[in-house]
Amino acid sequence: MNSGKRILTGVRPTGPLHLGHYAGAIESWLTLQHEHECFFLIADWQVSDHAGDLPRVRSAVWEVALDWLAAGLDAEKSSFVIESVVPEHAELAMWMAWYCSIGMLDRNPTLKAEMASIERPDDAATSGRSIPVAFYIYPMMQVADILLPRAELVPVGDNQLPHVELARETARRFNREVGPVFPEPQALVGRVPRLVGTDGQAKMGKSRGNTINLKDSADEVARKVRTMFAGPPRGAREPGIVADNPVFAYLDAFDAQPAEVMDLKERYQRSGVGNQELKDRLTGVLDSLLEPMRERRAGFERNMPWVRDVVEAGSKRERVLAAQTMALVRDALGLGYLRRS
Ligand code: TRP
Repeated sequence: MNSGKRILTGVRPTGPLHLGHYAGAIESWLTLQHEHECFFLIADWQVSDHAGDLPRVRSAVWEVALDWLAAGLDAEKSSFVIESVVPEHAELAMWMAWYCSIGMLDRNPTLKAEMASIERPDDAATSGRSIPVAFYIYPMMQVADILLPRAELVPVGDNQLPHVELARETARRFNREVGPVFPEPQALVGRVPRLVGTDGQAKMGKSRGNTINLKDSADEVARKVRTMFAGPPRGAREPGIVADNPVFAYLDAFDAQPAEVMDLKERYQRSGVGNQELKDRLTGVLDSLLEPMRERRAGFERNMPWVRDVVEAGSKRERVLAAQTMALVRDALGLGYLRRS
């Protein structure tokens, strides 16, 4: 196949992917897919916070596959995998849970923040008692996702770093105490580790309602940019502050002409540039990024049987590796109870 490293990364199927996913992760995957053996995982075991809305999860699985294809991931060169289609993920997660302490989960800042955000109002008194057990242990699933194909690199947004660290620690402990099975996976963070929301909140996120989605129409993008937060109000000729303006954050992330953005920033700080000029520029920039994706997506949408087939083929490729890894794991754990000797 290719001589590079083995990569695994993934996303939770909860809805359409947005610019934050693109700049933080997918964009770097587009390059990595040419140099490495890549597994792109649709993690439908990690969405127990959406247990009440299974139809949405099931359709989001295909949304993710379409968004990835539209963005330019090549599902024939790399493997798209649905987590639950490879049940060894769950088996390995259960064994890995032996080698990860409750303390390690409790200290995981990403898990902590997410648990706080899905806590229901009446949970406060019972310290989150209605959060599913599966949600609390989803980092174990992620450890298994990474270790099952024995991945060496994990390209992710920076909020996923604690989970990769958990995979490293768990792998190290298993290798030391049970047997040398796993490489220690390394995280790779994308070019824009965190993208602000259209409302100026620190992070773009579906639950915050401040996203621009990869599949948004040109009209939707124009509307979202028009109503986007662009720093505190200021008079027509008053100097602006670049750092407080998410429109500039997006231009920095997506404008292919950094010299022109520099010039714009300079004029903005001197005053004389209204937010309209910035926003018009951004709308154009996003359109040239997203229009080719919309076109490719429409093509794939017309060919769903093919999409289904490539996901099946990718999942099967992972299953071959999964069987090999599980044989090593069972052997190291001494699980050959019924083996005839
Ligand atoms: N938890 C990741 C997210 O919320 C998605 C994910 C699932 C993942 N399994 C993974 C990321 C394995 C990297 C590696 O985006």
